[in-house]
Amino acid sequence: MSALTLQNIDKVYGKTQVMHDVSLDIEQGEFVVFVGPSGCGKSTLLRMIAGLEDISAGTLFIGDKKMNNIPASKRGIAMVFQSYALYPHMSVADNMGFSLSIAKTPKQEIKQRVAAAAEILQLTPYLNRLPKALSGGQRQRVAIGRAIVREPDVFLFDEPLSNLDAELRVSTRREIANLKASMPDTTMIYVTHDQVEAMTLADKIVVLRDGRVEQVGTPLDLYDRPRNIFVGQFIGSPKMNIFETTDLTVQHWPHHVTGVRPEHLRLTTPKNAIVSGKLEFIEKLGEYSLAYLRTETGREFTVKFERGLTHTLGNQLHFDADHDNLHHFDPKTQLRIN
Ligand SMILES: Nc1ncnc2c1ncn2[C@@H]1O[C@H](COP(=O)(O)OP(=O)(O)OP(=O)(O)O)[C@@H](O)[C@H]1O
Ligand SMILES: [Mg+2]
Repeated sequence: MSALTLQNIDKVYGKTQVMHDVSLDIEQGEFVVFVGPSGCGKSTLLRMIAGLEDISAGTLFIGDKKMNNIPASKRGIAMVFQSYALYPHMSVADNMGFSLSIAKTPKQEIKQRVAAAAEILQLTPYLNRLPKALSGGQRQRVAIGRAIVREPDVFLFDEPLSNLDAELRVSTRREIANLKASMPDTTMIYVTHDQVEAMTLADKIVVLRDGRVEQVGTPLDLYDRPRNIFVGQFIGSPKMNIFETTDLTVQHWPHHVTGVRPEHLRLTTPKNAIVSGKLEFIEKLGEYSLAYLRTETGREFTVKFERGLTHTLGNQLHFDADHDNLHHFDPKTQLRIN
């Protein structure tokens, strides 16, 4: 039995259908990440699971219980939002324990649960402070702490790090990885725009587009075997190059669209090349460089070089790739062939 099951879920606002036939199985203790372009329905799906939005059609199970008509407060779910609205006049400890005191949990137990959550989140030294005396990252951890003390079966996060600056995102991402390790039985669903967050945190990634599930798999499944061009280009940064037959210098695959990631193209001789292009621009990023090229057919593509690149702009460069690193797609259906 899965911890959470979505069966053929639709969401309709007025006349607009925004989720289409979403089905998904999530196991207990799994960390699942929803990714997809802005407006694809990530938050809507999370809010339907939480009970903050009605489910228009389909069934949501938590364990073996149908949840469609169970109120949010009875679902055993806690949600952490992008904006962490803390009560400004309450200490960190009181903010974290607030939902428990509303529920009339005994004071001693509140104290214990808050202390345990603070320990996990490294907030123990700050328990008596007011939120205004905390950094953004610490405040977001208090918001997570508020959810932890409720001991939910399922934890939902909607872009919890997106208001933090780059450095804090990295450290708070590690806190979330630690949190996951310290609560191995708690199922977590996490929404993000961020590739690195998705790849590093997820046991399983769900790629959404226009309210539909495009692919579900481990981060490496999606990277190695995207089931269509959209997933191929959405997972991985910089994104996968896509070539039509006429862009290539070999014609082995006349009816395919061929995808190659920038890190998989290697310099070679003209004779061995599968694709050639004129060097138009270089970005030096220290550890590696990105070269932007254009084929004679006008197709732009990107190559990642592990070391500094000494070629001159305007040069014609030639590339091949291991056949295992070529992704073939059907131009009509956009689906993977090999
Ligand atoms: N209350 C509403 N009424 C009508 N349409 C809505 C409502 N809420 C969301 N939508 C629409 O539903 C679609 C999905 O929105 P949602 O907020 O779930 O996207 P998202 O994937 O979370 O996007 P983002 O990455 O920008 O947060 C969008 O087209 C949005 O305009
Ligand atoms: Mg959203």
